[in-house]
Amino acid sequence: MMPERRRPNGAADETQVRVSTLRLRRSENRSTYSTMKVNINNKAVEYRIEGEADAPDQQVLLATAQDLTAGTDWAAQGYTVAEFLPAAELQQLQRGLYQLVREFMRHAGLAVADDFDISQYHHAVGDSKELHLAVINQIKEISQTRLPLPASVLEQRVSALCGRPVQALNPWDNGRWFHLRIVRPNQPDNNPLHRDVWLPDYDDCVNIYAPLAGSTANSSLTLVPGSHWWPESRVVRTRGGAVYNGVAFTVPAVKESEEPLQIIRPNPAPHEVLVFSPYLLHGGAVNLNADATRVSLEMRFWPAD
Ligand SMILES: [Fe+2]
Repeated sequence: MMPERRRPNGAADETQVRVSTLRLRRSENRSTYSTMKVNINNKAVEYRIEGEADAPDQQVLLATAQDLTAGTDWAAQGYTVAEFLPAAELQQLQRGLYQLVREFMRHAGLAVADDFDISQYHHAVGDSKELHLAVINQIKEISQTRLPLPASVLEQRVSALCGRPVQALNPWDNGRWFHLRIVRPNQPDNNPLHRDVWLPDYDDCVNIYAPLAGSTANSSLTLVPGSHWWPESRVVRTRGGAVYNGVAFTVPAVKESEEPLQIIRPNPAPHEVLVFSPYLLHGGAVNLNADATRVSLEMRFWPAD
């Protein structure tokens, strides 16, 4: 039987949330800052994390969960990059999702033409936190009925990569969702370094990252290979949602690490997909592109057998 671990409002995704300046000031007074120093593809990156530390624990979360990487030739690293979909289906998916992004931008009050290049999102939104939030509040959890392809097409491909049947149905909340991520260049739009399973309802799945626009060696998703088997004590995390470079997120984040974390960007090409364990440390994928917003598709899959 599934334990009772429902998300409070049915929508606690790992994304950015609105936070009052008052709350930020309070957390500043509690002196809970950490400066994380990490290497991404051997380039030093520093960021600031606020949030009370959780008690360290020897537990390996994956040891008591279903590991969908088990038996694959990428089980040890916890991720793989592979061909995604046949060309016609991929084009249908990408073009449909570009239109969806344009729709969300219009809904946020922006005038967007049908041929607007979504990698230029940052020019349309500018530095406005409010406008960006108005867009991303619509993309945290999107019903799979809005996918430009039947979800079964993606389920079939991810099943082949995992070597077992999976489905994009979350057994913890019976939701069928997908997510879009939009990260402007040199803005704190990306979520901080975390495991998905630090949030409720994400156990036992695999996650995918599919590039849609502006996804490059300087902007694509980052992860720590092999960290899905690390004990919790190997890093220090925040107890609750972290404040990352002054922006609040619902997901807890790594705030300290004794060893320098070696983070990589697997950087899937436009026709490829990155499949990864939600138990891996990932995120903190600052967009270092000079002039392109990164837009990507994220979707999770659970055992179907
Ligand atoms: Fe995540």
